[in-house]
Parts: sequence; structure tokens; C-alpha cells
Amino acid sequence: MVPFLRILGIETSCDETAAAVVERDAEGHSNVLSDVVLSQLDEHSAYGGVVPEIAARAHVEALDELIEEALKRANVSLGDVDAIAATSGPGLIGGLLVGLMTGKAIARAAGKPLYAVNHLEGHALTARLTDGLTFPYLMLLVSGGHTQLILVRGVGQYERWGTTIDDALGEAFDKTAKLLGLSYPGGPAVERMARDGNPDRFNFPRPLVGEARLDFSFSGLKTAVRQAAQDIAPLSDQDVADICASFQKAISRTLKDRIGRGLQRFKTEFPAASEKPALVVAGGVAANLELRGTLQALCDKNGFRFIAPPLHLCTDNAVMIAWAGLERMAAGAAPDALDVQPRSRWPLDSNAERLVGFGKRGAKA
Ligand code: KG4
Ligand code: ZN
Repeated sequence: MVPFLRILGIETSCDETAAAVVERDAEGHSNVLSDVVLSQLDEHSAYGGVVPEIAARAHVEALDELIEEALKRANVSLGDVDAIAATSGPGLIGGLLVGLMTGKAIARAAGKPLYAVNHLEGHALTARLTDGLTFPYLMLLVSGGHTQLILVRGVGQYERWGTTIDDALGEAFDKTAKLLGLSYPGGPAVERMARDGNPDRFNFPRPLVGEARLDFSFSGLKTAVRQAAQDIAPLSDQDVADICASFQKAISRTLKDRIGRGLQRFKTEFPAASEKPALVVAGGVAANLELRGTLQALCDKNGFRFIAPPLHLCTDNAVMIAWAGLERMAAGAAPDALDVQPRSRWPLDSNAERLVGFGKRGAKA
């Protein structure tokens, strides 16, 4: 029997405190032994967004117990894990400090190696845990802090093909919801309202559509929504529903164009990929059924598999951090030194140029 490597993962980069124990053998078989997540949603909702100081304090208060709970549910003690993996960026610096320092302390006390994991790498590699994907594949990360199309070539080998030049997609949903008087987080509220709306009532802009570059832009869309809402104020429920439906339609069209070009580029760069190539989606916006439908149809049309891991592994969690650590161990990567520092900004692709406005809202993922 091939021995399993077992790792404790810790995630604190934004507003979820999470710990998990995961194991993997040399052939890539895995077991998720525990997966504990504590969302801070209630603490932040009154402010309409994540408040960094509140987040950091909440991580401090919850993390120790959460780690104990993860070990207990996995039925292991610290002595039974081979390594510790903690998110060390990108994200809100206070939260990163809490998680990484805790990881270091445990690693030191238990005499285990530490892997300081890039949160985005966790998102990027999750589909190998859930679906056993082989490299290369494309990953679309759409969350409150990021909108990126990434080529995943291998462990530690990432190329950013596109990113937002202003707002992240989840941020566009949240801001739109706020200006329409809907609740936070805005994505689910906008999606709910859109169901009863007329998507053709407003013709919202689709920035960058038709351009060869694979970047995204959503701030113009948000401005157009504000303008439309002001023009017809006061808004009836039907007006709000129509705006939401038209907003989602504009986003669907935008994604279709941008990602469609990405799929074509992938086919050009990897013509010999024997298997059906894959597009993976991750991040909270991946919960949106209309956008999922758009991506699924686009993949079907282009001969791609559309992979959407279960939602709790698409949004922030510690399983993906543990898994990224395991993948690095399996690839023979050396652990990090215990003086490794958290990095609020940490692009996966260090060669990618920084675009104007990219990485706002604390560059959370
Ligand atoms: O990945 P995530 O849970 O957290 C981080 O951003 O780190 O993503 C949260 C984002 C929020 O902006 C939220 O409004 C959006 O995902 N979201 C959605 C939906 N559910 C969550 N956006 C559109 N439609 C949804 N159903
Ligand atoms: Zn994330």
C-alpha cells in the first residue's frame, strides 16, 4: 500500500476561519479527513463588506478551537500529521498574520515542516483533489476580490491570462446590490431578484468585449446600473428585478466573449491535448446559476469539460490550502523557513504585470 502524507491546513486570509486535515498518496489519491469553516458573515454584514480589523480579531478568537475541532473530527493528533500548511497571502494582512503565526507555532512545537501557501494556488489546484484533473487546464477564479483566468500548467506553474482592470466580479455584484438596497453579500440577492426580471429591459455595457486581450472590467457596468436606477427612481420591485436581470445578462455576455477567447487560445497553445480539455471555476460567484449555465454552454460548444467543484470547496476553505501543501510536498518542494512572512499581495504568476486598480479590497481572493 502506498503511504499517505497527512497535513493540517489553515486558512484565514479573508472572512472565513478554516482548518482541515487532508491526506494524499504518491499517486494522488486523497482523503479529506475533516473540513471546518467558520464564516464571519454576520459580523461584517452590518457594514456592507469585510472590515479587516473585525476579521483579524474574529480569526484570533476562533482559530485555536477550530484547529482542535479539525483534528478531533479527523480522529488524529498533531503527532499524526506530517506537515502544516497555512495561507500566507494574498489577503487581509491581519488575518494572514493570525493564521501564519499559528501555523508556525504549531510547526515549531510539533517539529513539523511548514508550507506557506498562496491562497490562489489553493483555488487553482482544488479541481485535482475533487476531479483528479491532469495538467494543463484553465481556471476562472471569480470571487469578491479576484477575477482571473489562469493557465494551470503544473504545481507552482501558473500563467495569468486575464484579470480585472478595476472591480472584481463579486464586488460588482455587491456594489450593485448595495445601490439597489439589497442585502449583503449582494451576489445571492441579485441572483434571486433577477429570476423575476426582464433581462432585455436595460442594455448595459459589456466592457472589453471584442478585444483580443483576455482582461475584464466591471466598473463601467456598475456606473451604468447606478445611472439607470437614478433615471427611473423611485424603484419598484419590478424595476429592481429588471435591473438585476439585465445586469446578469451583461455579465453573461461578457464572460462568454472573454472566456470564449481564452478557450480558443488554450486550444491553439495545446493542440495535442489528447483528453478533452477542462475549464475549472472557483470563487463565490461560481454559485450563480445563470453564470454557470453560460460557462457550461460555452464549454460544450468549444469541446471543453466544465468543472465546478462543490460550492464549499469553491469558496474559501482550508481543504484547498492543505491540498496545495500536499501537492507541493508530492512535487518535492522544500518546506518554508519559519521566518516566512505573510504577503497581502502575492500574484500567482510573478511575471504578470500589475494592472491598474487590480487587487483592491485588500486583494482578498
Ligand atoms: O469566494 P467568496 O466566498 O469570498 C471571497 O471573495 O473571498 O466570494 C464571495 C463573493 C461575494 O462578492 C458574493 O456576492 C459573491 O461571491 N457571490 C455571488 C453569489 N454568491 C456569492 N455572486 C453572484 N451570484 C451568487 N449566487
Ligand atoms: Zn478565495
